[in-house]
Formats: sequence, C-alpha cells, structure tokens
Amino acid sequence: MLTTDSTGSRLLVDVHVRPGQVSTLRQDALQGLTRQPKQLPPKHFYDTRGSELFDAICRTPEYYPTRTEQALLERVADRVMRSVRPTHLVELGSGMARKTHVLLSAASAQGLSPSYVPFDVSESALRHSADALLADYPWLRVHGVVGDYDHHLHLIPRGDRRLIAFLGGTIGNFEQRDAVRFLQRVAASMGPGDALLLGTDLVKAKATLDRAYNDAAGVTALFNLNVLRVINRELNANFDERAFKHVAFYDEDACRIEMHLESLVAQRVRVEALELDVEFKQGERMRTEISRKFSEEAVAELYGAAGLELVDWYTPEDGAFALSLARLPNRN
Ligand code: SAH
Ligand code: AVI
Repeated sequence: MLTTDSTGSRLLVDVHVRPGQVSTLRQDALQGLTRQPKQLPPKHFYDTRGSELFDAICRTPEYYPTRTEQALLERVADRVMRSVRPTHLVELGSGMARKTHVLLSAASAQGLSPSYVPFDVSESALRHSADALLADYPWLRVHGVVGDYDHHLHLIPRGDRRLIAFLGGTIGNFEQRDAVRFLQRVAASMGPGDALLLGTDLVKAKATLDRAYNDAAGVTALFNLNVLRVINRELNANFDERAFKHVAFYDEDACRIEMHLESLVAQRVRVEALELDVEFKQGERMRTEISRKFSEEAVAELYGAAGLELVDWYTPEDGAFALSLARLPNRN
C-alpha cells in the first residue's frame, strides 16, 4: 500500500490498486476470453478515460438515473443526515462524486462536519473529486481509499457513526449472489451507529431502459468499447475497436440490462501478455456488463440476505429510482 499525505493538507489517499497493475485484469481477461460465451467484468471500464466517459454518460439526455437520483438526494439528504448524524461519510464506487455535494451540504447545514472517505478503483476519479470537494468545503478532511470491492473493503477506516453511501445503482452491476456477498461484507464492517444509503434503479418500461443504454450521441458505445483499449494497453493486445459494435438491451424476464460487444467480422485477437490468441466468430457477443433493475421487495430481500434491515425507502412520484437506508437489525 502507498499512502500519500500532501503536506499540511486535508487529503490522505491509501492506494491499494495502481494503474497498470489492475489487480485482477490478467486473470479476468484470461478467464473471460477463454470461456463460452465470452465475458468481462465491468470494473475494467474505469481507467481515466472510462471514468470520464461514464461522467459524460451521466449528462446524456437518455441516461435518467443520475439526474433522478440527484433530485431525490436533494429532497431527502436532510432527513438522512438528521437520522444518522454521521462522523464519516464513506462513499463506495465514488467516481467523480458529483452527488456527494448534496450530502455534504446537508451535513454542513446541520452543523455536522463528517470526514469524507471515498473508495474507488479509479485513482484519477478519486483524486479529481477529492480536490473539487476540498475546494468547496473548507472544513472537510478526505481519506480516500483506492481499492477493489472484491479485495479491499476491509481496509476502509472505521468510525463512530458512518453513513456508507453506494449510489448510482451500481449494486445492479452485480449478479444477485455477488450483491449479497458484497452487502454482507459491508454489513460485517458496520457498527450499530452506522447506516447504508443505497441507490437502486427500478424496473420500468423497456423502451426507457433501452434508450438509457443506447444514447444517440454514442457515448455509452465509447464507454463499452473502452474496455478493449484497456486490455490493449495493459495486456499488450491488438483489439481493433472498429471491428466491434456496442449492443445493449433490457431483458424483461431477468429485469436487467445486458451490455455486450459484438464482433462485426470473424477475427483473431492476440493478447501478448497472456500468450493468448482469441477467436471471434462474426456476430459473436462478449458480455461486458449487467445492470439490474429492482423493486422495493427485491431490495428488501437483498438486505435480508445480507443481514441488514431496510429502515427507509425513498422514491420520486414516477418511481424511476430509489434511495434506501439500511442498518444492522436491532438485537435488543
Ligand atoms: N457513484 C458514482 C459513480 C458510479 S460509476 C455515481 O453514482 O455516479 C461506478 C464506479 O464504481 C466507478 O467510479 C468505478 O471506478 C467504480 N468501480 C467499478 N468497479 C469497482 C470495483 N471493483 N471496486 C471499486 N470501485 C469500482
Ligand atoms: C455504474 N453503473 C451503475 C452504470 C449502470 O447504469 O449500470 C454503468 C453504465 N453502463 C452503461 N451506462 C451506464
């Protein structure tokens, strides 16, 4: 681990994952490119360019989750802060942390000054967002952790009353069993004063969902294709982005978006660092992400399976997105 503390500054960053050593990329690429059907986990989208592209997706007119969650947070942040009175605001998968301003402003308005603890696999996004927040809140201290959910959650600093935010609907990028395991690990780190604030995208009309993952400007397509650039750079491969197309659709039975890269031609790709040649048939799809959509019952069930209790459920009138607050069950 490398810890940096800029002199006299309010920023401390623990780095457990370095660019170029993305801990599981070799293993994920080897497994994912040799299995049938081919598949890659979404965490490898988020190098510097990928984080910027995700930020751009959030500004497309079709991608409603960010705007909807932001508006909802503005409505409920005061209530959440009054209920938790956090000494620490931990944010998992914080990314550019644009919505964090709403939470910190609500805390400050109630005379609270929680430390901010962003946790993300992307060091560039984490540092960029920390700088912006430190400039806006002179009282703020930031202790960032650059790490991977799968390996480093236990390295997040503990505190008296932590509000642990996991926003954006990112829990939907996990399969059910991985989401349960993830929340179990979060629950294991929680004390009686801590609370989890979870953002979940909700089930809705297929047309709205299909549009959200197929924006007209093609930003989501660039984001999807970016994983090929990451593999080319980190594993010395020769993927040709022009030979793949972005495919995303909502599967109504599974209540999830599936995102794929489809090979436009029959082709062979060399991944030098793995000494691997990968054959693609014309029309073959490689899955790069799932994004699950929930109901209130599904979220409550997820919490139950992870040993947490749903205490508050917030959703706008159109029911497009939800924020929920969960705690450890009261054992009295
Ligand atoms: N919370 C923000 C960003 C969501 S994008 C929002 O609501 O807009 C998902 C974030 O999760 C990205 O910043 C990405 O870098 C991070 N991420 C993806 N996989 C991760 C992993 N395995 N470990 C830690 N962070 C991860
Ligand atoms: C980060 N995550 C919640 C986004 C989602 O909607 O599943 C990632 C994304 N993929 C395509 N567009 C946005």
